Amino acid sequence: MTRTVVITGTTSGFGLDSVRLFASQGWNVVATVRKEADLDVHHDVPNVRTLLLDVNDEAADAAFAEEAIAQFGRVDALVNNAGYYHMGPVEAASMQQIHDQFQTNVFGLMALTKAFVPHFRTQRSGVIVNLSSISADQGYPYTAVYAASKAAVAAFSEGLNVELADFGVSVKAVFPGTHATRIFTKIDQAADVPEDYQAGIQRFFSVQGTGSSPAVTAKGIYEAVTDGKNEKVRYYTGPDAVAIPRSKQLLGAEWYWEEFRNAATGNPSDLWKSLVTRGEEPVEFTL
Ligand SMILES: NC(=O)c1ccc[n+]([C@@H]2O[C@H](COP(=O)([O-])OP(=O)(O)OC[C@H]3O[C@@H](n4cnc5c(N)ncnc54)[C@H](OP(=O)(O)O)[C@@H]3O)[C@@H](O)[C@H]2O)c1
Repeated sequence: MTRTVVITGTTSGFGLDSVRLFASQGWNVVATVRKEADLDVHHDVPNVRTLLLDVNDEAADAAFAEEAIAQFGRVDALVNNAGYYHMGPVEAASMQQIHDQFQTNVFGLMALTKAFVPHFRTQRSGVIVNLSSISADQGYPYTAVYAASKAAVAAFSEGLNVELADFGVSVKAVFPGTHATRIFTKIDQAADVPEDYQAGIQRFFSVQGTGSSPAVTAKGIYEAVTDGKNEKVRYYTGPDAVAIPRSKQLLGAEWYWEEFRNAATGNPSDLWKSLVTRGEEPVEFTL
């Protein structure tokens, strides 16, 4: 029986690469975009139906789930990928920006998950994969609001993994490191950043790498959906995402935070640099 996956946010990045990977492995794919102009984005990929969904529109989720299930008769997996990046010192973020970040990355994801759980529960099978981020584990500066939204996704995934275990449904979270996707061209920036922060921002981002190809995380998403390991909840994708939790585990959290604070205040060690970069040119960030 051909399996079906629903993937949100598929115009670019991990979503786009995941659509292509699942389709190439013989899956049916229900892909979502939020603009009519993007409805033909997967026109060259077989067995893909592209539907409109803005994950902020919670009232649309029940009808969307019904429509998605009707496309191929059942759904075996849901990949909650849609999301965006709010960036800047917390002091300069408006509360509206903070609410908006949680609306898309957390509440929208929870609402869509709720719309599909009854289908998976009654079917007695299903996999839900949620996009968290290494920032949920790491605590990057100037991106604390985004990191907090992704930490909420991680905790939600872990709790739900156990809650749905009785019904044969498993829930996982993918923690990508930095990847070169369009997310960095659509940053929601904090406005009116006090001058005091500029030096720290420049310093911090001057030691960040340019990131991996999105195909790396698409592969991780595919593995999370298909490996049958119901007990494995966390999938780290990209060299920085793999190295950071390992180094914390091996060398201890206090060592890690000391290295991190040294890096952020201008004295990154070579070991730290090798953790967060892969030898690429530093990325230029301005706020
Ligand atoms: N790139 C990284 O380094 C990285 C690292 C860790 C985690 N992540 C997470 O991975 C996920 C995918 O990111 P990406 O890097 O592949 O970024 P991307 O290329 O910008 O893709 C994000 C997708 O989400 C869609 N989207 C955003 N807001 C939406 C909404 N309200 N409703 C429906 N769709 C919406 C975008 O649609 P539009 O084209 O219409 O904007 C786009 O299709 C995100 O959850 C992100 O937070 C990314």
